[in-house]
Amino acid sequence: MSLAPTERDILSDILAFHVEAGVDAALGEVPVDRFAESAAEQAARAAPRPALQSATATAPAEPRSAPAARAVPAAPRPSAPPAAPELAPPDLAATEAREAAAAAPTLEALRELLERFEGCPLKHTATRLVFADGNPQARLMLVGEAPGRDEDIEGKPFVGRSGKLLDRMLAAIGFDRSSAYIANVVPWRPPGNRTPTPQETAICLPFIRRQIELANPDVLVCLGGPSAQTLLGIKDGITKARGRWMEYDTGTRTIPALATFHPAYLLRTPLGKRMVWRDFLAVEARLKPD
Ligand code: URA
Repeated sequence: MSLAPTERDILSDILAFHVEAGVDAALGEVPVDRFAESAAEQAARAAPRPALQSATATAPAEPRSAPAARAVPAAPRPSAPPAAPELAPPDLAATEAREAAAAAPTLEALRELLERFEGCPLKHTATRLVFADGNPQARLMLVGEAPGRDEDIEGKPFVGRSGKLLDRMLAAIGFDRSSAYIANVVPWRPPGNRTPTPQETAICLPFIRRQIELANPDVLVCLGGPSAQTLLGIKDGITKARGRWMEYDTGTRTIPALATFHPAYLLRTPLGKRMVWRDFLAVEARLKPD
């Protein structure tokens, strides 16, 4: 199909807008021409309608599926994208998640279980599961919100720009991925990096809780407000909640937990690094052998 230069410009502007908005993956296998779709709908609306007025004045009322409704020519529909697998309602999916997660005896079993779990809609739009990185035996565990584009491609948490910053923050207190274990509350990338919905988070929560229980760290660090709200139940914003030691009940024991700014926030607001530096020093002190 050849396009006029103005059409090409418009399409490239639309594409650029989508990329800037974070929409960098097609969700359907088959492209849907929305322009043709709306043109067909307009044509259907403009088509002459059968004269119902006089007929309804004398004739008994017709059932809804009467031929009069069929008099409007059917608009040609573009081919529909393939149907997504059927999903359980969110409450049921969360219950299934709780039961499944509780039954996982090891981190590897939990990962395999998540690979098979069909209850979270994000699984069907993400490229792959992003389970964890680092050392599951480490005393320090950090949990972010959800994978972004780079993580979705590599299958590991915090490998993009904010991950590189996280590595530098860890290095500043003498840690790296061999001495820290890293995961996310939600292990699949939300489309376009949008915030996971409360339902998606509720479905994933039993899995990250079990992951923390099985990893059994001595200190938990929540990276960013959403992680802290989900795991520590904080109601305050992260600016108020960060840097305060709290308790996290793993299900087996209670461990110290701290919320701090998310590295992605620090990339936008470098002034926050001063506070995170303080938080990381507190983590280092907490993990020092007595
Ligand atoms: N942000 C997160 O919260 N997690 C990642 O893995 C990457 C970016």
